Parts: sequence; structure tokens; C-alpha cells
Amino acid sequence: MKTSIAIYPGSFDPVTNGHLDLIERGEKMFDLLIVAVLRNTEKQPLFSVTERVEMLREVTKKWASVEVDVFDGLLVDYARKRGAGVILRGIRAISDYEFELQMALMNRKLEPRLETVFMLPGELYSYLSSKLVREIAQHGGPLEGLVPPLVEQRLRAKVSNKAPRLNTLGSPKALDKKNLRPRATTRPRSKKAVS
Ligand code: PNS
Repeated sequence: MKTSIAIYPGSFDPVTNGHLDLIERGEKMFDLLIVAVLRNTEKQPLFSVTERVEMLREVTKKWASVEVDVFDGLLVDYARKRGAGVILRGIRAISDYEFELQMALMNRKLEPRLETVFMLPGELYSYLSSKLVREIAQHGGPLEGLVPPLVEQRLRAKVSNKAPRLNTLGSPKALDKKNLRPRATTRPRSKKAVS
């Protein structure tokens, strides 16, 4: 297993500037850095795997040694398949440490030849997470400096498509696009019947 090939695994729902900061640091250290998106059937993501991969590919295309891929199942199996010797993970604050330590030690138990390398993102991103970014977007807050412009656009579009318009009683109802009134639910009477 080559330590020149590293895998940076995660959910990336969506990719943030914190992830990109880490990718930029990792890209300098390894010959090949594989950013691997977990196809997680348990979580209910905001973006589909295809959308996440598409955004990641777009924002990492400037780095020739960065590849974006998808994986299922155990990370150690995927690392073996790709011939990678390193798992790259970011630690933002002490609160990340416990979970990351548990994962790293379990991965070591499953595959002792695989090393986990922890890197610190820039301090600017120490409080940044995909979860907070999704929450800010859902409430229409500012995202500048937190995610790349492309991701901001996709977030805005996603959130505006998702939000159901509410009628006066508070329940979602189809609205007439032009007039923003609920669409008529009964068929208009035929001319014959009116006359
Ligand atoms: O961005 P995330 O959600 O913190 O990433 C977590 C991830 C994808 C690295 C982790 O859930 C993972 O590796 N899942 C794959 C399944 C696996 O190998 N589980 C055992 C890890 S100890």
C-alpha cells in the first residue's frame, strides 16, 4: 500500500471552503489524493451523490493530482482496492478528536497497513461544517467565504426548490406561478354550460 496515494473520505454535503483548504494542503503532500464521497444509505442528504461529485469535480479541477470518486461499504476495503496507504482527515477542534480517534483506531484494527493522517484546516475554517452551511442556506443567510460560488448557487437553488409555498392555513398547496394564488382545483365550467 503506497503512502503516496491518500484518500480523503467524507460526505461532502456540500463541499465547503474548509474541505478545499484541506484538499489543497493534501494535494501538496501526496502524488494522488482521492476525494471519496461515501454513498451513505443511512443519512438523508441535501444533495445527491451525483450532485456532490459534480460540485467537487468542478471546484478541484485545477489540481491535476486530485481525483473525485464514490465509495460504498468499508473505507478500508476501498483503500485496498485503490492501493492507498493513507486516509486523510481534518481536525478542526478538540470536539472532532474523539470521533476521529475512534474511526482511525478502528480502521487500523481492520487494516494495520493503513495510516490515518490528520491535518488542521486554516483557522478561518475551524468553525465551518457542511451541516451549518446547509442550515444557513435554509434560512437564507450569507454564505460568502464559506463555500465556493458554484456551491452557493447550487445551495440557493436547492433550498428555493425544496421550500413548499404555504397557503393561508399553513399547509403546502400548489400555487399559480404568475399570480401566486392557489391553482383552481375544480375544472372551469364549459362554455356550453355557462351560456
Ligand atoms: O464527512 P463525514 O460524514 O464525517 O465522513 C465519515 C466517513 C465517510 C469518513 C465515515 O463514515 C466512513 O469512513 N464510512 C465508511 C464505512 C466505514 O468504513 N465505517 C467504519 C469506519 S471506522
